[in-house]
Amino acid sequence: MATRREFFKTAVAAGAANLASFRLVRAQEGRPHPLGRPAGYEWKKPSRPITAAVMGAGARGNVYAGYALKFPDELRIVGVAEPIPYRNEAMARAHGIPEARRWPTWERTFDGPKFCDAIIITTPDRLHYGPAMAALEKGYNLLLEKAIAQTWTQCRDILALARKKKAIVGVCHVLRYTPYFRMMKHVVGSSRLGEVVSVQHLEPVEHIHMSHSFVRGNWRNSKESTPMLLSKSCHDLDILRWVIGRPATKVQSFGSLRLFRKEMAPAGAPARCADGCPVESACPFSALEIYLRRKSWLGHKDTPGDDDASIREWLGRTNYGRCVYRLDNDVVDHQIVNLEFGPVSAAFSMEGLTSYAGRRTRVMGTRGDLVGDEEELNVYDFHERKRYLWTARDHAKLDSGHGGGDHGLVRDWVQAIGRRDEGLLTSTLEASIESHLIGFTAEESRLEGGTLKPIDPGALGRPAS
Ligand SMILES: NC(=O)c1ccc[n+]([C@@H]2O[C@H](COP(=O)([O-])OP(=O)(O)OC[C@H]3O[C@@H](n4cnc5c(N)ncnc54)[C@H](O)[C@@H]3O)[C@@H](O)[C@H]2O)c1
Repeated sequence: MATRREFFKTAVAAGAANLASFRLVRAQEGRPHPLGRPAGYEWKKPSRPITAAVMGAGARGNVYAGYALKFPDELRIVGVAEPIPYRNEAMARAHGIPEARRWPTWERTFDGPKFCDAIIITTPDRLHYGPAMAALEKGYNLLLEKAIAQTWTQCRDILALARKKKAIVGVCHVLRYTPYFRMMKHVVGSSRLGEVVSVQHLEPVEHIHMSHSFVRGNWRNSKESTPMLLSKSCHDLDILRWVIGRPATKVQSFGSLRLFRKEMAPAGAPARCADGCPVESACPFSALEIYLRRKSWLGHKDTPGDDDASIREWLGRTNYGRCVYRLDNDVVDHQIVNLEFGPVSAAFSMEGLTSYAGRRTRVMGTRGDLVGDEEELNVYDFHERKRYLWTARDHAKLDSGHGGGDHGLVRDWVQAIGRRDEGLLTSTLEASIESHLIGFTAEESRLEGGTLKPIDPGALGRPAS
């Protein structure tokens, strides 16, 4: 933990007398990497590139594989399993993957002997457990997308097998690798705010994103994927646990699906927006407006090309062309979670119906408070009567998604595997699984109408300390 003196040493005056910008303290600095400094260790170039195969060459698979194109001395992609032919082909071409290491589905990857260091699992949520267990059984390390698995029992199975095999498993809680959240953790962990008393955290999903991913898209139905607290908000539960630095002890949750239901459909709205909907031109969720006219949110389109004919064909056969009020979605569009982390209370809100995105966090301490919006951290010291401002864009190489966290994660994961040291990774399976325990317990509470539930530390199966 940095002392107040160290903290002040790093504060740099920035104009107004009571306004300063502050830098990462020395404890967080390592040897530079082109993406920026890793947290708390010295980066070393690996003696050879780590080799990995990608299961699911969709949006996330390409983000992580993209690191290998940027830093070929660190990571090489040597295999791919992907059922959509053009995606399989594109990844094979980009990384020079031979025919013998290309498969239509993940199962076939594990028929033969182990052929690389690690498996990157970026298949849909319902297809994490199968490849994770098969890969661990064969002795691979993993980069595993969240949600870790669809049930708590499956998460426990993966944890038990990873422990048994001593595998290095990075969970894609990418926010932990952003300069913004690292700085937030540093401020809270220093004595700058005094003792943390309480935290408020908001995840405003933004209404079009809500409709795309959680009404029409892959995360609309909790049985096919996971409840919203796991598919979207496990990031937030993880950040709360990480920043507060204590295990959660109690949880309670409320929420429901309010807007995107059949009863809310406008009179005369047909099953698809293109089928002559009388309110199409005025509907905020018109598929024709979002995908065809604006050509936005096309990342999950399963054919190449963004020409009008191919978009119309896609809208005609997938859920993305359907009326948002007439789908099989069941995930909530608003949910709150009240949490106790020992003496620290926290309130989390996931809100699908907002005009804006960008997580907002307020941390209240005994000697000051912090207000953040994913771009700036604003810290006020009650005793000094001074305000300190830190701006992410001044400190980050934001050239990968999630505020630079996507490639920050891969950088540290490559180091952890190359040096056989899981401690170089902050989002290990051991650490990340706690957010899933909180999420599954909170969802049980919501389904029971808001029961107050203890978080059972024994559920993590850790030896008593
Ligand atoms: N960490 C984050 O911030 C973040 C963000 C978005 C998504 N995700 C997670 O990443 C995962 C992938 O999401 P995405 O947005 O890339 O989805 P996507 O649909 O773009 O990619 C998934 C890919 O898996 C392929 N696939 C389906 N069945 C398969 C099988 N049997 N074998 C091999 N491949 C198969 C699909 O064809 C698709 O190309 C999901 O679990 C999602 O929840 C994480």
